[in-house]
Amino acid sequence: MKNNKEEIKKLLKKLKAGSSSKELVEKGKKLLSGISPSELAILEQEIIEEGVTRKEMRKLCDVHLEAMKDSLTAELDLKPGHPVHTLMEEHKMILGFVDKLRLITTSFKCAKSYDEVKEELELLKHISEHLVEADKHHQREEDVLFPALEKQGVTEPPEIMREEHVDLKANKAALYKLARNHKKLKYADFVKKLEPISSYICEELPKHIYKEDNILYPMAVQAIPGKAWAQLKVECDKIGYCCFTPAH
Ligand SMILES: [Fe+2]
Ligand SMILES: [Fe+2]
Repeated sequence: MKNNKEEIKKLLKKLKAGSSSKELVEKGKKLLSGISPSELAILEQEIIEEGVTRKEMRKLCDVHLEAMKDSLTAELDLKPGHPVHTLMEEHKMILGFVDKLRLITTSFKCAKSYDEVKEELELLKHISEHLVEADKHHQREEDVLFPALEKQGVTEPPEIMREEHVDLKANKAALYKLARNHKKLKYADFVKKLEPISSYICEELPKHIYKEDNILYPMAVQAIPGKAWAQLKVECDKIGYCCFTPAH
């Protein structure tokens, strides 16, 4: 394991240097298949301590993730009501909103005036409301799940997720505002404004969810002691749920 660790560190540094060849990703897959999510978290921390900034780590994370895809597919066997089960169910709903947003953005781009997209405008309002409503989901992660993970010594992955939340929340809020104030803009200006916001959300939100479902949540379930979850559920209940949260 120790040798493996050194190998993995070397690999991550190569990735940092900008190399992301297929061979390197293949090598990464092999190396990472024998390592648990929490060991990986500790390793990431060590690498950061050796001088990789968190920002670089965040960029690195995506290539890194590609290498880990196959090694971290262990299914979580959680019952409804478990805080992580609820978060994962909410992810499915959020991904549904993102799909719709992607579709209507294309319709907006194809149209020439507000008159052609009346239904889409209503849908955009609806989607943006739900995406902002998902802030409660982020809050349960930030105020309950991440601190519990940090208590177990896993600090870097939650920090990266927190940073991603900042940009996601800003874009969701911008979408919400634009959906409500579009009438102040000419149609072409509206589309121009919508495009970058929508493409940020449609690209980054699914990536964020993927990292949580496949890395952060399995890590949490593994690292946080079983008996701690009842109290975490109480804290989640206090924060509350989204209007679209399935039974929990
Ligand atoms: Fe999150
Ligand atoms: Fe999430």
